[in-house]
Amino acid sequence: MTRVFSGIKPTGHLTLGNYLGAMRQWAASDQHQADALFCVVDLHALTVHHDPARVRRLSRQAATLLLASGLDPAACTVFVQSHVDEHARLSYLLECVATDGEMRRMIQYKEKAAREQRRGGSVRLSLLTYPVLMAADILAYGTDEVPVGHDQTQHVELARDLAVRFNQRYGHTFVVPKATNPSVAARVMNLQDPLSKMGKSDDTGPGIVYLLDEPDVVRRKVMRAVTDSGRDVVYDREARPGLANLLEILAACSGGNPEALAGVYESYGHVKRDTAEAVVEVLRPVRERHKELCADPGYVEGCCGMVRSGRGAWLGRPWMPRIERSVCCRR
Ligand code: TYM
Repeated sequence: MTRVFSGIKPTGHLTLGNYLGAMRQWAASDQHQADALFCVVDLHALTVHHDPARVRRLSRQAATLLLASGLDPAACTVFVQSHVDEHARLSYLLECVATDGEMRRMIQYKEKAAREQRRGGSVRLSLLTYPVLMAADILAYGTDEVPVGHDQTQHVELARDLAVRFNQRYGHTFVVPKATNPSVAARVMNLQDPLSKMGKSDDTGPGIVYLLDEPDVVRRKVMRAVTDSGRDVVYDREARPGLANLLEILAACSGGNPEALAGVYESYGHVKRDTAEAVVEVLRPVRERHKELCADPGYVEGCCGMVRSGRGAWLGRPWMPRIERSVCCRR
């Protein structure tokens, strides 16, 4: 059976981008068609300035939202990265096959390092080596497919390269994984700046739809989205990035495709109104289930805490001695 692994980082409140680009596919198909693992990757949140208590709160919220979005612990495994020591152990071994140049070429490293510097902070070494920890997350479980949004494709490529290199050097050890992306909305853009990704750690609140935004807040944000000066409705990512973003969101939420939808509309206002309502309807069940789960914290804890005992015993652990033996650091 295909092994699927993916993760989400608790650095901010989860967004419509996280949902359309990744979480929705995990719940709708991956968990039913594959042996699937979904992880709240809390160690990754430590690579930038953070408040530990906030990371704990956001980790719990992310786990709750994963379940609220439809992940079923009877069909897949939902867990927290720091509960499984092997991620950090494997990350070190992979650092020994990765190169400094490879790390410095990562687009997200360049962007995030620049942001940390702009904020007057120093750049943590872990921000540079972050993609190796991500490769460890993936490779530890013999993953075949990694369902992610476009922004993570370069990191999954690195995991592939490291797996191939390790296998060549030390004998066949790792499955070589591949990234999979949704056909629409694999890169949802910020509503106030359609040339930038809608990211949960960004500061521009009005351009970001959060999964837990109230319906009226969602409507206001979508209605105020920055669009372009044209009048006719056409889908053109280059020339009309703001409108294209709305058409993609609308297509992802209503099941159409953005080019075809463009032909149906005569005004930007109408596109915005329908997009706002489509987003509200897509998020409604998630918000409702989230509310129910918040009233039952023991359930969420139980689902994600399983890794520490019982079912978690097989997670990662059987792999490590074999991997360590292949690089001669364990007899
Ligand atoms: P993270 O937490 O930034 O995002 C989680 C998932 O959401 C997708 N995503 C988006 N998709 C479309 N449009 C957007 N605006 C958007 N924003 C986020 C991401 O592509 C991702 O699929 N490094 C990863 C976390 C990670 C991971 C892993 C993922 C750590 N280890 C192993 C897969 C496998 C990250 O920061 O994702």
